[in-house]
Parts: sequence; C-alpha cells; structure tokens
Amino acid sequence: MRLKLAVFAGDGIGPEVTREATNILRAVAELGGHEFTFVEGLIGGVAITETGSPLPTATLDAALDSDAVLLGAVGDNKFNALTPDKRPEAGLLQIRQALGGFANLRPSVAYAALAASSPLRPEVTKDTDILFVRELLGGLYFGTPRWWNKETNEAINTMRYTRDEVVRVARVAFELASKRRKKVTSVDKANVLEVSQLWRATVTEVAKDYPEITLEHQLVDSMAMHIMNTPRNFDVVLTENLFGDILSDEAGVITGSLGMLPSATIGGKVNLYEPVHGSAPDIAGTGKANPLGAILTAAMVLRHSANLEQDARAVEAAVHKVLAAGYRTADIARGGENVQLVSTQEMGKRVHQALAESIDRRQAMHAV
Ligand code: IPM
Ligand code: MN
Repeated sequence: MRLKLAVFAGDGIGPEVTREATNILRAVAELGGHEFTFVEGLIGGVAITETGSPLPTATLDAALDSDAVLLGAVGDNKFNALTPDKRPEAGLLQIRQALGGFANLRPSVAYAALAASSPLRPEVTKDTDILFVRELLGGLYFGTPRWWNKETNEAINTMRYTRDEVVRVARVAFELASKRRKKVTSVDKANVLEVSQLWRATVTEVAKDYPEITLEHQLVDSMAMHIMNTPRNFDVVLTENLFGDILSDEAGVITGSLGMLPSATIGGKVNLYEPVHGSAPDIAGTGKANPLGAILTAAMVLRHSANLEQDARAVEAAVHKVLAAGYRTADIARGGENVQLVSTQEMGKRVHQALAESIDRRQAMHAV
C-alpha cells in the first residue's frame, strides 16, 4: 500500500500532536511493509507570519497533489484583532472548501478507562458511541451575504443550504448508520428557521431509500441537553455546519476531553483529517497536550484513505490499552486509580509500543 500524505501541523500544539500522529503512521507503514510518504506545508498563523497568507499556494498545491491531508490545528491569539478573512482560521476554511469534502465525521466514544475523567457520571456515559456527521461546506460558515458595517453597526451572516447539499451529506450519514446501530438523529431548528425546514424535509425524503434505518429529528437546543442526559441513545447524529461544531465540542465531555476527539472529512477530491481540538496556545510547548485526538485521527486516515481497517483498529486498540494501563495527559488525569501523568511525547511512545506488540502478534499468528 502506497500513501502520499500532506502534513500541515499549523499553530500552537498542532506540531506537537501531529508529530505523534505521524510517528504512529510511520510505525504502521514499517510494520506492515507499506510505503507512506509525508510532505509538509504551512497553514494558519505560522503561514501568515512566513508568507502573509493563511493558506499559501504551495500548501494548497501540496494538498491537491496528495492522497490525504493531515492537519494539526490553526489559531493564534496574535491575530485576534483581524477580520475573519485574514485570520489563521481562514486558511482552514479555504482548504476545506478547496478539497471539497462536505461530510465531517466526528466520533465521540466513552472509553471505559476514562470513566472517571468525564465530569458526567460513569453510568451516564457508559457505552456511548456517537458518530457526528457534520456538514462542512455550507450554512453560516460560507453563506453570503456576510459583512460587518462599522458605520451602521450592523452585521450579517447567512445560513443557506440547497437541497442537493443536504441530500449528499444525509446519504453519508445513512450509509454509515447502516454499518452501525442503524439509527440517524438529524438535528435542526425547524421550529424557527426555514433553512432547517428544508433540512428536515430533505433528510426525511432521503430516509425513504434506507428503510432499515430509524430516523429521528431533534431540535438543536433539546439535543444539546439529550447529549448530556442520555448520550448512549445516539448512533449517527447528522447536523448542519455550526450546530455540528457546537455539539461535537460538547460531546468531548463524554470522552473526558476535547483532546481525545478525531475527525475525518470525506466526499471531496482529497480527504482531510484533523483532530477536533484547537491550537491551545496556553499549553503549547509545555508537553501537556494530549496527542490521542491526533493519533485517533491517524487511525481514521488508515480507515478512510488507506483502506487498512485492521491497522486502524490496531491503533485504536493501542490507545485503549495505554489508557487502561493508566497513562494520562493532564487533560484526562482527573479521577481514576493508578493514574500516571505523562507528557505528549511519552503518551505517543506508549501507543507506539502497544501498537508494535499487537501487530507483531498478528504477524506471528499469520506465520503459523
Ligand atoms: C473545528 C474548529 C473550526 C470550525 C475553526 C477553527 C474554524 O472549531 O474544526 O471545529 O469552526 O470548524
Ligand atoms: Mn470547533
């Protein structure tokens, strides 16, 4: 298996966590005899500082020329005074649009070993396994008109969707649900917004092609509550762009930390992989960052871009094993017994070790 990866580590803790993720990918390549190549590029605040643009042409070209893009994080307080189109985040939004992936998959899983890390009671989080499918190219993020008139003190953003945009992301959600627990919860605000009424009508129509899937609709406000009360009830959760942004951060509470959540964006020219967390400038360079979100994102690269499902599972199992053994970065160190605090790098090493052992075992089994 050959895979050409564009790696854009970005700002803050981006480079630290991305290093651990690429180490894991290198290990998988080595252990499995695959050929993975890595091309680095600038994005976000570091790109603005070096080139004046949050998404330099060289970065975009490298992305379009790759089989998959792995991104760290973007965002730097130094640029807080700038308008949205000039900020580091603009680089991320531009690359999302250029690559064309419209379905952003964000799994949120309650790890038994982390039951004490969540502020929610273990009996509430137990067995939770939600897959958010967040529409990534529409809604308020990209709708026009958008402006801020400083003379009249008026500003506007536009939540716009077309039927086709809803159909294509809904299909992804139903397809994924058919391989899981066969339930889709579609989130909207159809009691207030026309765009949500279009969303709900369209999702209901797409559901007719998937009779084996149960579809339910939830309003986003009560959904925010249900996710905390009964997270176990949800399987695939389909949302528009901003609702998915908000609810997926909320779902980080189930796992114990936003630092645990991976994501993959599919459906476009090149898949884009990024942990859900941000650049966390307050802890950058301290060794406190949790690399597991980035490492689990690497597992999603193996699953969705390399067709190496077994290796994706091996990486996920290695993460489980390391957590079960008690290793914790600061963000997940709350509660629990026999917990050992480790740095970003040490956490990466532990996962690597656990992975190497399991792949060795698999190869030994195949040999007999
Ligand atoms: C995310 C982030 C981004 C988003 C920002 C950094 C533009 O919060 O990936 O969830 O809002 O999509
Ligand atoms: Mn977000």
